[in-house]
Amino acid sequence: QPTLLRDTRGRALRDLRISVTDRCNFRCTYCMPKEVFGKDHVYLPRSALLDFEEITRLARLFIAHGVGKIRLTGGEPLLRKDLGQLIGQLAALTTLEGQPLEVTLTTNGSLLQRQARSLKNAGLSRLSISLDSLDDATFRRMNDVDFPVAKVLDGIAAAQAAGFERIKVNMVVKRSTNAHDILPMAAHFRGTGVTLRFIEYMDVGATNGWCMDEVVPSAEIITRLQAQFPLVPLEPSAPGETAQRWGYANAQGQHDPALGEVGVISSVTQAFCGGCNRARLSTEGQLYLCLFAHQGWDLRSLLRNGSSDADISARIAQIWGQRTDRYSELRTQGLAPENQGNAPSQPTTTVQRKRIEMSYIGG
Ligand code: GTP
Ligand code: 5AD
Ligand code: SF4
Ligand code: SF4
Repeated sequence: QPTLLRDTRGRALRDLRISVTDRCNFRCTYCMPKEVFGKDHVYLPRSALLDFEEITRLARLFIAHGVGKIRLTGGEPLLRKDLGQLIGQLAALTTLEGQPLEVTLTTNGSLLQRQARSLKNAGLSRLSISLDSLDDATFRRMNDVDFPVAKVLDGIAAAQAAGFERIKVNMVVKRSTNAHDILPMAAHFRGTGVTLRFIEYMDVGATNGWCMDEVVPSAEIITRLQAQFPLVPLEPSAPGETAQRWGYANAQGQHDPALGEVGVISSVTQAFCGGCNRARLSTEGQLYLCLFAHQGWDLRSLLRNGSSDADISARIAQIWGQRTDRYSELRTQGLAPENQGNAPSQPTTTVQRKRIEMSYIGG
């Protein structure tokens, strides 16, 4: 029976996030700004993408090292053709603990109304939907393709109707843009069974022009919410969870499950690298060990050069075993290196000086 991998800081590998496409039909200003991802932007050619057999093969090897949850991301994952087929293949896998693999998805919701039922039928366990505002003008400005709020809300409703439970909505908060939507968003989703999570705007990638003034610290968000809705802190639902959970309280000051909960993801003001059990696989099969990495490890070439499962598995173990990443903690301490070339041996890809973009490896 294989034992769990541990990195240099003792962290296990439990959560694999797989980007299935680098394309997106939105141009969120904090992620794929139009000035950078314009009409002439060149996406990866089809042959560069891992196919479903390759993804499933890697998934099986990662599971053997302890992964229990796979999250499909993008770009916008619902743009990948026949995604339900991949979900079906992944959902059929069994974890080391003998449980069905948890297969989840992060989507912008634009195509959800049409696809919710088939995603459910394919075996998708859970869904996270990004929505930054309920105010139509603000939302259209943030997605920058004039996409209306109503269609995302229809998508969420379709997901609920299709039987998805524990749906999460992710809201990236930028002070100058949508901070005024914090309370309306909370009021809208309170008591609906949907968990709203506020994400601190991050300095991910190299193109979104991040600055600290635009970050609304989670502590401030909780204070603002408390003024309207009493909240009580909840225990983490899983080790290494990204969000801190807060439950809506009843008149007795106790969590009322019928009212549900909210979460805050405080990557900037309260880094959570200590428990980070996440790895990321890019659309073209590069393994990244941190959202803020500069370089990945090329697994696709192993898949395509006839390497055995044992070879690839050993490579994964070696890569995770030497992992040192904790970018957000270093940033907090003012120590974030300009170039994190601190791995004991160099990745097999050409060295990229810029941080990778979120749209390339998913959130
Ligand atoms: P659950 O399985 O529901 O807990 O989902 P999750 O929080 O792992 O996934 P989701 O894609 O919903 O993540 C929400 C957001 O948290 C992402 O879009 C990122 O903005 C942020 N996030 C997730 N993982 C990390 C991480 O490892 N580091 C940092 N800094 N931010 C992360
Ligand atoms: N800061 C915080 N969250 C971000 N996301 C994308 N870019 C950023 C950023 N700069 C979030 C999206 C979505 C998920 C895929 O990542 O809103 O919820
Ligand atoms: Fe927006 Fe997500 Fe698309 Fe990035 S990948 S532009 S966050 S919808
Ligand atoms: Fe993990 Fe990197 Fe995020 Fe820290 S910054 S939690 S190491 S992905």
